[in-house]
Amino acid sequence: MGKIVLCITGASGTVYGVKLLNILSKTHHVYLVVSESGFKVMEKETGVNRKEFLKGLPKNCTFYSQNEIDAPISSGTRVVETEGVIVAPCSTGTLGAIANGLSSNLIHRVCDVALKERKKVFLLVREMPLSLVHIKNMERIIQAGGTVAVASPGFYTKPETVDDMINFVVGKVLDSFGIEHNLLKRWRDEDF
Ligand SMILES: Cc1cc2nc3c(=O)[nH]c(=O)nc-3n(C[C@H](O)[C@H](O)[C@H](O)COP(=O)(O)O)c2cc1C
Repeated sequence: MGKIVLCITGASGTVYGVKLLNILSKTHHVYLVVSESGFKVMEKETGVNRKEFLKGLPKNCTFYSQNEIDAPISSGTRVVETEGVIVAPCSTGTLGAIANGLSSNLIHRVCDVALKERKKVFLLVREMPLSLVHIKNMERIIQAGGTVAVASPGFYTKPETVDDMINFVVGKVLDSFGIEHNLLKRWRDEDF
């Protein structure tokens, strides 16, 4: 079973992270970190509080708080064992911290480590509009070898539900890691 790191921060769209957790944990051991703001936004958006969320974690998942800076995944020796790190959703604050090497919590640190070890780092940012600060920080991540996406579902697949739109975005994240799924309709699929 593969290993992967998933971080959920306090940008809008915590559902993306939750959906990724449920899918990834079927095929991977997921090292999960949720920021303090991530829990607040999750409760606001989904009605699920920290206690309920942690109680319902899937089997193949190890949870760390953002302050557990001594967790195994804060070391390159552990991060190299994984397929990389996904931050979904990624706040502009976390984007800035990673882009500038702050490493002031476990989420920043695991991304810092993954970049130096040349592992995949995927930041699913959610904000609009974007300032030059955000764009420059995205540029730094891409120059360092990471992948940056702004959560933006496509409409050419004719989504009918919010879940269809979430699936599109989550599917694109999984595509980036080469993880098989059937969450989205591909361009010119027969049943399109
Ligand atoms: C309801 C709510 C929605 C938010 N949505 C966003 C967002 O879409 N993008 C963003 O960058 N920050 C958003 N924020 C602000 C972040 O939560 C805040 O900047 C926080 O400090 C981020 O910390 P973290 O990156 O450690 O999770 C939101 C905050 C709240 C309360």
